[in-house]
Amino acid sequence: MQTSLFDHNGITSELSEIDWSFNGVDTKYLTHGLHRYPARMIPQIPRALFNTWTDKGVLSPGDTVFDPFAGSGTTAVEARLHGMNAIATDINPFACLLSRGKATPGDIDSIEAAIGRCLGPDWTYRERFIDQNHNEAVQQQRTRWGEDVYPEDLDSNKNHDAYAVKKGWFPERQLAKIESMQRLLTELRAEFDYKTVRFLRIALSQTAREISYQRDSEFKRHRIPEDERADHNPPFTETFIEVLTENVEKARAYTEKVNPTAEADIQHADCRNPDLLEPNSMDAIICSPPYGDHPTTVAYGQFSQDPAATATPLDVDQMKDVDPSGLGGRDSVASVSFETVTSWSSTLQKTRETLQANDGRDDDVLSFFTDYAETLLQMSRVIKPEQPVAIVVGNRTVSRTPIPMHMITTEIALEAGLKHQHTFARSIPSKTLPMKNAPENVPGQSGEMIADEYVLVFQGTENVDTALIDGVLRDK
Ligand SMILES: C[S@@+](CC[C@H](N)C(=O)[O-])C[C@H]1O[C@@H](n2cnc3c(N)ncnc32)[C@H](O)[C@@H]1O
Repeated sequence: MQTSLFDHNGITSELSEIDWSFNGVDTKYLTHGLHRYPARMIPQIPRALFNTWTDKGVLSPGDTVFDPFAGSGTTAVEARLHGMNAIATDINPFACLLSRGKATPGDIDSIEAAIGRCLGPDWTYRERFIDQNHNEAVQQQRTRWGEDVYPEDLDSNKNHDAYAVKKGWFPERQLAKIESMQRLLTELRAEFDYKTVRFLRIALSQTAREISYQRDSEFKRHRIPEDERADHNPPFTETFIEVLTENVEKARAYTEKVNPTAEADIQHADCRNPDLLEPNSMDAIICSPPYGDHPTTVAYGQFSQDPAATATPLDVDQMKDVDPSGLGGRDSVASVSFETVTSWSSTLQKTRETLQANDGRDDDVLSFFTDYAETLLQMSRVIKPEQPVAIVVGNRTVSRTPIPMHMITTEIALEAGLKHQHTFARSIPSKTLPMKNAPENVPGQSGEMIADEYVLVFQGTENVDTALIDGVLRDK
């Protein structure tokens, strides 16, 4: 039996007392730290919400929480830690793989046995072979298949694209070892269940990132300068063992804490799909949507090309489809019109006028918000009346115009039938996001493109015409 968010005098003050910036905290505890992902929500946010809402009887173990924008699975991991089921969606197949790996890492004994197998005598032999014959073997393969393709890439259902992603981004010998380990993990599927092998793939992907020439502090593909590459030569096997050791410890601690009856169902889907979830079916929603179209804010698909090419059975081509199909991307078509969405949000209408006056990208911004509005309609459709919806958003500037996403979100959410509860501001000193975009228009914010974030809390209501929303979401 659930009680209303309003029935408890303490709830507003309790949430208001939280310092939502969480400066200096460890954001990589348990499986949250298995692998990087761009614009990850810090786990302290869902944890604080779950703790408060369970304390106050708004949520109980066994309830189901929805995260429309799964990313790396932060909400799903925390949901299971609080004994709750999670349903999450993402259009990025790598995000789904990672979320599943973090929320349901698999049996630790089996993982340890698989590590023993993949780093056993067979690997020692393969590694020695690569060390002794690498240059010659690579040369033979390239001569046979042409400059750009390893035959194994073709064999393992990869294509030109996978090699094109890797070429020039790794010390060559380490790349040969990464590829050899990737094939070995595929072979291990004959002996071990998919969760076990997935866990190892996630560690291999993280290892590949550490070994690559990718700049560590950036999520877009940027390499360290050419003259620094000769000195960047981390050993493959030692790095892989380090990542595996740390990841196993995190997964073991998570498995000990998590409620084994709580489930995580992560679906590769657009969250607006009305066939995914029944109206009024979710006990809570906790999410962090993209803050703009992927290519000009955070390119989740571009980031995921490397994990696809180096460690997983995913196709690089699929990753190239992710950014154009994200909210506001060129492949995403909303049935909500520019006129409708600006009539729902006066702040968006004013922003549109300012962008037009600044000769800015008003159509791009509007395209994003028509798609985004539909995700809010979906949230309002699936949340049970009275139950909480938390949305973490950030503000950016486009063409020197600040986009107040927290206000636009609130206005559209009200139109969608949600009731506004709280807006909490937070600073994000450590988040890796695009920098340096028109600093002069974000007073006091020293040049970040996304200057700060807000935790917005809403509540489902009875006044939602779920049939009407269903119609809008189907009309695409
Ligand atoms: C800010 S990230 C989410 C981060 C996540 N909370 C975490 O902690 O890792 C936004 C995610 O939304 C996904 N996304 C974009 N458009 C989507 C859509 N229409 N449906 C589902 N997911 C979408 C992106 O692929 C990206 O992974």
